[in-house]
Amino acid sequence: MKTHRIGVLGGDGIGPEVTAEAVKCLKAAAEKFGFGLNLVDYPFGAEHCLKTKELIPDKAFAEMKTLDAILLGAIGDPRFETGFLEFGIVGRLRFDLDLYVNLRPIKLYAEHLCPLKGKKVEDLQMVVVRENTEDAYRGATKVDKKGTPDEVSIQEMLYTRKGTERIIRYAFELARTRPRKKLTLVDKANAVRAHDLYRRVFAEVGKEYPDVATDVAFVDACCMWMIKNPESFDTIVTTNMFGDIITDLGAVLQGGLGIAAGGNIHPGRVSVFEPIHGSAPKYKGMAKANPLAAILAGGMLLDHVGERAAGAAVEQAVIRLLTSGRVKSIGTDSGIPTHAMGDMAAGEIAG
Ligand code: IPM
Ligand code: MN
Repeated sequence: MKTHRIGVLGGDGIGPEVTAEAVKCLKAAAEKFGFGLNLVDYPFGAEHCLKTKELIPDKAFAEMKTLDAILLGAIGDPRFETGFLEFGIVGRLRFDLDLYVNLRPIKLYAEHLCPLKGKKVEDLQMVVVRENTEDAYRGATKVDKKGTPDEVSIQEMLYTRKGTERIIRYAFELARTRPRKKLTLVDKANAVRAHDLYRRVFAEVGKEYPDVATDVAFVDACCMWMIKNPESFDTIVTTNMFGDIITDLGAVLQGGLGIAAGGNIHPGRVSVFEPIHGSAPKYKGMAKANPLAAILAGGMLLDHVGERAAGAAVEQAVIRLLTSGRVKSIGTDSGIPTHAMGDMAAGEIAG
């Protein structure tokens, strides 16, 4: 029997609650599909940092590199300066593990969840390939004359040829495996001069994929089309910052952040899977958080470690809960406590 070594980092706020339910579902899938799980728990996040001043200690980080995958809950706590924990933990994992793909499927699982009028399940079936290691997240910051009327604040948007090419190549490979074989580059080349690099590399690499239809959209227009004609998109490749923004928009089209999952991936290496919602500190410990996004992230994790059938079964289980009417809402008002929703999903996987 094959055993996968999986790191579990629940993190802050509702992170640990939803992660526990995702783990429940991983265990149900392991039982059903006959593979082993060796789970390694990590306590990192706000509480741990307050107690020890540590974010991710080097020893733990070295161990993480040897795992097959990591399931992450959420990081962020209002007791810290904005961005401190996010960069120290989420950023550390993404950048130092070189997880250059942020893969975010935007799928409508049940028609009633979509806030758009008259859209069917087949109208919202896209996937965003977000570059995950460059852009404003990695560029230099400079502040001059801070706090004075003459303050100047600068943030670089940094793109390398190699970084651009590998994400575009990944997106072409992915688009090729999907029925529609269509890839859209989303950028802002009409205003951000540096996006010319994306345009050139996209055209160049595209020549190697004559079977994939391509087009380009500016990010502002992309937001408009996502609402007006989401069916026009299949695979999207975009920069880190724009990918961050359009996937929150995408999540709301799917029904809300309670259902949107993603993977921070370096193909063939340890990768990190997470619900894309944040730590939502005000719901911490109230059993109101919806674990479905975390559970779907667990499904993506299984797919990544080679348990394709199990990964698909997790997604199918969530779809059945939603389409059968047993889960009517995926917000904090669902009336189904976090652990009960986890039990329902695990039962459905086992069933
Ligand atoms: C996300 C989050 C992060 C990001 C934050 C927490 C830094 O919004 O994963 O989408 O901007 O990438
Ligand atoms: Mn985000």
